[in-house]
Amino acid sequence: MTPLTIRTAQEKDAVSLSMLYPHWGIERCKKRIKNSLALDSQLRLVAELDGKVVGHIYVKIGQMHHSHIATIYSLMVKPGQRGKGIATKLVKKAIELLPRETEILLLQTQCDNTAAQELFKKLGFEEYGYLPKAFKRDGKYKDNILMYRARALS
Ligand SMILES: CC(C)(COP(=O)(O)OP(=O)(O)OC[C@H]1O[C@@H](n2cnc3c(N)ncnc32)[C@H](O)[C@@H]1OP(=O)(O)O)[C@@H](O)C(=O)NCCC(=O)NCCS
Repeated sequence: MTPLTIRTAQEKDAVSLSMLYPHWGIERCKKRIKNSLALDSQLRLVAELDGKVVGHIYVKIGQMHHSHIATIYSLMVKPGQRGKGIATKLVKKAIELLPRETEILLLQTQCDNTAAQELFKKLGFEEYGYLPKAFKRDGKYKDNILMYRARALS
């Protein structure tokens, strides 16, 4: 067994990524990975274990007057690999790789996503707001919890 590696997502990861996010599809995964590789404002990492992609994180870096803010938009660990610290490693590596200018990290989680809330609290994030109806699928809404962390924890 090889140790877990966290690395930048490459185009060859599109199929594996589409298994983590079946609703994205392979073509959209390819496009997203390509964009992230081309843009300094995006950081897209995968966690690889024994040659297989088992996790993914996507972070967007703000521009202009928001260039000190980075937002975590996606974080996913393969169901069979959860509870082993993979998400923690992905978040920590992403923070490490963010530009020096990044001072603030933001994210949203659905209000019923206890696993994500607990994970981010453990990583030093705090709740700073609540956004009703932040998510809508098939006419049904979900509320989001807004979380914040200073990059440098005191
Ligand atoms: C949330 C998610 C990314 C966590 O991934 P993971 O690799 O299992 O997380 P870790 O093993 O690094 O867990 C770190 C901490 O998070 C918390 N945590 C993780 N899963 C949890 C769960 N099911 N219930 C409660 N707390 C949980 C715990 O505090 C845990 O620390 P511990 O193991 O010492 O108890 C994973 O469950 C997932 O992919 N969920 C679906 C997608 C998702 O919700 N993404 C987040 C969107 S904001």
